[in-house]
Amino acid sequence: MNAKALVPAKIVLVDDDVTSLALGKSILAPKYDIITIPSGEKLFVFLEKAQPDLILLDVEMPGMNGYEVLKKLKASPKYAGIPVIFLTSRADPASELEGLKLGAIDYISKPFSPPLLLKRIELHLLVETQTKRLWEFNNNLQHLVKEKTKAVLDMQNSVVKTVANLVEYRDEVTGGHIERVHAYLEILLDVMAAQKLHLGEIEGWDRDFFLQSSQLHDVGKIFIRDSILLKPGKLTGEELSVMKKHTVFGVQIIEEIEKSIPIGPRSASSFLTHAKLIAGTHHERWDGTGYPYGLAGATIPLEGRLMAIADVYDALVSVRPYKAPLPHEQAVQIIAEGTGTQFDPDLIGLFCLVSDKFKRVAQKN
Ligand SMILES: [Fe+2]
Repeated sequence: MNAKALVPAKIVLVDDDVTSLALGKSILAPKYDIITIPSGEKLFVFLEKAQPDLILLDVEMPGMNGYEVLKKLKASPKYAGIPVIFLTSRADPASELEGLKLGAIDYISKPFSPPLLLKRIELHLLVETQTKRLWEFNNNLQHLVKEKTKAVLDMQNSVVKTVANLVEYRDEVTGGHIERVHAYLEILLDVMAAQKLHLGEIEGWDRDFFLQSSQLHDVGKIFIRDSILLKPGKLTGEELSVMKKHTVFGVQIIEEIEKSIPIGPRSASSFLTHAKLIAGTHHERWDGTGYPYGLAGATIPLEGRLMAIADVYDALVSVRPYKAPLPHEQAVQIIAEGTGTQFDPDLIGLFCLVSDKFKRVAQKN
């Protein structure tokens, strides 16, 4: 019986010798669905219509011999998985080894001993069934793990989104900022990959985690007073220095989360590492005059350099308490003028290539 319980296993016996075919059939027919085929060529005609559970293959045949048939079977993705047992009247260890090397699972000598033939076939079919079951079990297990992982990630994403939205709603005029910044970063990642800029670094990132974590870039604003966060006019020097602290507050909040999952999975640590770098460095400037750390050039983490472009572009084309939105073209010009002072020149080169895509995102939201 095969894996589909109660259905007899389908066995194909290929031999040019009609006596062998008749004998094989009489031994196997009571237990199996046995099909006899007189040549290798005809086997392939049969295989176009049906998939057997096992092939018993004679080695010495006119036309295609057993080795050639086996080679052709193993070369085909459709047939390579069918187990093949060689039948031979030659008791020659070298040719047995050759057949096993080609992928046969066993050799059975002719003339057949009926009980031995039945037992060998029964054992091989059992191994095949158990292998298939194991494969199915592994597959199901992988599927279950994937489902669970996805559920955890979905939950993580929705918590992150909720926290990010809490910040955004406090900063009430920046509606849609988080989604747009997410889309801008996707555009930048795509063009970096296409142009092979910092490819080694971004290939090491989990793209989804990086994009998700970008939602927390201003999470530190939770600690900024409404009187400063929502002030319609220009901030005083003191207010501005408080406002700038949203970067370090963001890092502190994410560090608190990190502490609460001390032996977190790699995914959590990668997510939080991106989040911390983005929150902490998205206001750094290429020339070293940014905040909070005053980092310069490539010492600013790539995450922060990317977010700086996405964040500033969105601020320029959006309404803010203190300004009207600027047209896309003017925003691009302002950002391009910041090359080498505010922004990473290589990244601005790419931003200019894809700025039309930024425009489409800005217009859509
Ligand atoms: Fe910010």
